[in-house]
Amino acid sequence: MTADNGGGGPRKLRSRAWFDNPDNPDMTALYLERYMNFGVSREELQSDKPIIGIAQTGSDLSPCNRHHIVLAERLREGIREAGGIAIEFPVHPIQETGKRPTAGLDRNLAYLGLVEVLYGYPLDGVVLTIGCDKTTPAMLMGAATVNIPAIALSVGPMLNGWHKGERTGSGTIVWKARQLLAAGEIDYPKFIELVASSAPSTGYCNTMGTATTMNSLAEALGMQLPGSAAIPAPYRDRQEMAYRTGKRAVEMVHEDLKPSDILTKENFLNAIVVNSAIGGSTNAPIHINAIAKHIGVDLNIDEWQQHGHKVPLLVNLQPAGEYLGEDYYHAGGVPAVVNELMTQGLIHENAPTVNGKSIGENCRNTVIEDDKVIRHFDNPLKAEAGFLVLRGNLFDNAIMKTSVISPEFRERYLSDPAHPGMFEGKAVVFDGPEDYHHRIDDPSLEIDEHTLLFMRGAGPIGYPGAAEVVNMRPPDYLIKKGISSLACIGDGRQSGTSGSPSILNASPEAAAGGNLAILRTGDRVRIDLNKGEADILISAEEIATRRAALESDGGYKFPKHQTPWQEIQRGLVGQLGDGAILRGADKYQ
Ligand code: FES
Ligand code: MG
Repeated sequence: MTADNGGGGPRKLRSRAWFDNPDNPDMTALYLERYMNFGVSREELQSDKPIIGIAQTGSDLSPCNRHHIVLAERLREGIREAGGIAIEFPVHPIQETGKRPTAGLDRNLAYLGLVEVLYGYPLDGVVLTIGCDKTTPAMLMGAATVNIPAIALSVGPMLNGWHKGERTGSGTIVWKARQLLAAGEIDYPKFIELVASSAPSTGYCNTMGTATTMNSLAEALGMQLPGSAAIPAPYRDRQEMAYRTGKRAVEMVHEDLKPSDILTKENFLNAIVVNSAIGGSTNAPIHINAIAKHIGVDLNIDEWQQHGHKVPLLVNLQPAGEYLGEDYYHAGGVPAVVNELMTQGLIHENAPTVNGKSIGENCRNTVIEDDKVIRHFDNPLKAEAGFLVLRGNLFDNAIMKTSVISPEFRERYLSDPAHPGMFEGKAVVFDGPEDYHHRIDDPSLEIDEHTLLFMRGAGPIGYPGAAEVVNMRPPDYLIKKGISSLACIGDGRQSGTSGSPSILNASPEAAAGGNLAILRTGDRVRIDLNKGEADILISAEEIATRRAALESDGGYKFPKHQTPWQEIQRGLVGQLGDGAILRGADKYQ
C-alpha cells in the first residue's frame, strides 16, 4: 500500500490532500470545518505543519498500556514544539490478561483497525504507543503496511514487585504461587496476595515476558529511540522520552523516513540475535515474522535457529534469571546489550533506526552498568539461549527455548548417555485447555515423571488466536512429589513469562490438518534435540489409516465460533510458524 505524496516539486504533506485540495474545494471545506472543531485553525491545517497521529493503545480496559494516556500529554508537547499538530485516536484494546478467549485473537483485528485509520485519515506520521504483549506487533504490522513515517514509544515496564524481601515478577510468580497452592503451602488469599505483589505500578510486565521482549525488539529493529524500551513506566525519564519521541516524529515526516527505510533484513536479524541475548519470549518469532511479512522482508522460522540459537543469554531477568525491569534499565537496557553483542560481531551495525543514525552509532560504547543484570559475553547465564526448530511426522515446524531446561528436567528426560539430546515417552493428549483442566489430575491417565503432555486444538484456528496453554503444570500428585514440570508439546503458544521448556507453536496445528490430530494417548513419541526431530513412533501405514479415518469423520473438531471475528479470522489466518497473519494482508507493501 502506498501512502506517499507522489513525486515532483517540493514535497507536499499527505494530509494536504484532505485539507488543501483546490481540485476538490467541496470536500476540502467539509474536512476543514469538522477537524477545525477540535480547536485547530484553518491556517494551521493548511500550513506546512505535519499532522502526527498518536495511536493510543491505553485505556481502562488495557491497564498495562494505560499510562500512555498520561504520556500522550508529553508526546503532544514534543510534537507541537517541533512544529507539528497532534491528533490522538483510539486503537482496539488488547489486554493480555483480560481478553477471552485469547488476546492473540485481537492482534490481527487491532492491526486491521490501525491500517484503516492510517490509510483513511489525514495523518502525515504516527507515534505507535506500544507495551502489553500483542499491542507492539499489532502497531508495527500496521505501520509496516501503510508505510507512513512511524516511531514507537514503549509505555515501559512496571516497577519491580516485592514480597518478603524478594523480587516477584509479574506473570512469572503465578506459576510458583500455583505450585505452592497445589502443595498446600499457602491458602487462596495468600495466593492472590503473592501474585498481586508482582504488579506494584502502572506499566507492562516487569519480567522478560512477551512485553519486555517485544518492546526490546522494537528498539532492536530500529523503531524506537535508543534507550526507550527499558525505562520503567513511572520514571520521569519515561516522560522525557515521550517528549523526544513526539519531536522526532515531526522530523521524520520532513525527512520522509518511513518503516520501509528502517525495517531492513539486517534489522530483523539483529532482532533475532538480541532476542536470544535477552532470553526473549517464544512469542517473538510469531510477531517478528508477521512484521517482516507486512514490510515485505523474507524471513523464515529456520533463521531463528540459524542466527539465534548459539547466542548466549546475557540478560538476567525472570523467568530465566533473577532480576526485573527496573534492574534491566539501570544496567543499561537494550543499548548495553547491543553494544556487548557488537563486540562479538553479532550485530549488523549499519542497520538504520528512527533517529536517522545506525544502530551501531547509537549503541557503540554504551557500557553495562551492572554486570549481575546484564552479563558480559564471556560470563553468560546460559551458553546457547536461542530457539531450536523441530520438525518430523507430527508437524512441519515447532520451536523450543532450550535455555529454560532445568538441570532436574535434563536429568529426568535427557540423561541417557547412549542417546544424548534424545528422549522418548508415552503421550497423554489433551484437546484444548478445558479438557486439560478437567482431566489433568485424573489418576487413570497414569501420568508419571517421564510422560510427554500434548496440547492440541490450541492453535490460531483451533482456539481462535492460539491460546497460551502449552506449558501445562503436572498433576497435583506429581507436584507433591517435587516434579514441577513435564515435557509439554503443542500447537498453541506459551506465555513468555513461563520458564517451561515446551515444544510449541507447532505448525500446522491439528485444526489445520497437522498430524497432532491423529496422535492418541498411549502412543510413543520421540524427540531428538540434536537432530531437531519430533516423531510419533507409528508406521507410515498407520498414519495413513488414522488420517483417512479422521477425514471421513469430517476432520479435527474445534469449538464453535462465539463472535463474527472468530469466524472471519479462522477463515483467513495462517499458522504460527509463518507469523499467523491474515491471508492477503501481506501484499499491501
Ligand atoms: Fe500486559 Fe504482561 S499482561 S504486559
Ligand atoms: Mg502472554
